[in-house]
Amino acid sequence: MTKLINGKEFADKLCDKLASEVLSLHSQGVEPCIAVILVGDDPASHVYVKNKIRRCEQVHIRSLEFRFEDTISEQALLEKIEDLNGDSKVHGILVQLPLPEHINDSAIIAAISPAKDVDGFHKESAGALMLGQDGFVPCTPLGSLMLLGDVLPTLSGLHAVIVGRSNIVGKPMASLLLAKNCTVTIAHSRTQNLPDVCKQADILVAAVGKPELIRGGWVKPGAVVIDVGINRVMVNDAPKLKGDVCFDEVKDIASAITPVPGGVGPMTIACLMYNTVEAARKQAG
Ligand code: GUN
Repeated sequence: MTKLINGKEFADKLCDKLASEVLSLHSQGVEPCIAVILVGDDPASHVYVKNKIRRCEQVHIRSLEFRFEDTISEQALLEKIEDLNGDSKVHGILVQLPLPEHINDSAIIAAISPAKDVDGFHKESAGALMLGQDGFVPCTPLGSLMLLGDVLPTLSGLHAVIVGRSNIVGKPMASLLLAKNCTVTIAHSRTQNLPDVCKQADILVAAVGKPELIRGGWVKPGAVVIDVGINRVMVNDAPKLKGDVCFDEVKDIASAITPVPGGVGPMTIACLMYNTVEAARKQAG
């Protein structure tokens, strides 16, 4: 029987645990706080930020939201980040991506103090992860790893195939799985014979942003499938969320699979809470 990996339930439990840790920090005079910067009016970004702020409330993390028009200059955004870097009451800084075209994402991310980089996107965080050193891990791969650890007794020696090579998911996921002694393959849009490569996976992580790309015939029987995709598609004139995996075809082949929605998505936000509590704890010494 295929196990449905319930990311919502796992995320709720993690957040309950974090909420009591935050209350204990409060009693020590530390109030974990995240600043969230949202530029422009991308509807998906607004939904993500709203969900992040709602979770902060549940976990008793203070959140500060800064919204800017998409005409804001890169310089003005850099100055805002500098302010927040210097504000000792703010422990984490998140700039919701994507940013408007005239703003250089890399310059903005580089401006965030690595100590407050709760998204784990700064090159110092990325470098630390690659070198196996201490640093913030990007939330989606961290959440995916937690779910894998929950369904597999050990990851050691398993072949993990990650489809997608983004800085936010594919590359950090590869570092995490390598650190757990997996044999790691990163496949991408130029990979030859993608179905055959996927079929070798004991662990298949789909993070490409293409609805239902991964078909039933691409999956080895008994594999664990982590679907990172959140694609908004129209089905019979109604908007629907679809993963990167064709769930209906894969669900009876895999030994365990994350659904969309309710799989990896809630874990991304829970891990943002986790990183923010870590940031507050470290900054409080
Ligand atoms: N846009 C899509 N996913 C993310 C994320 O995890 N963090 C930020 N900052 N922006 C995003």
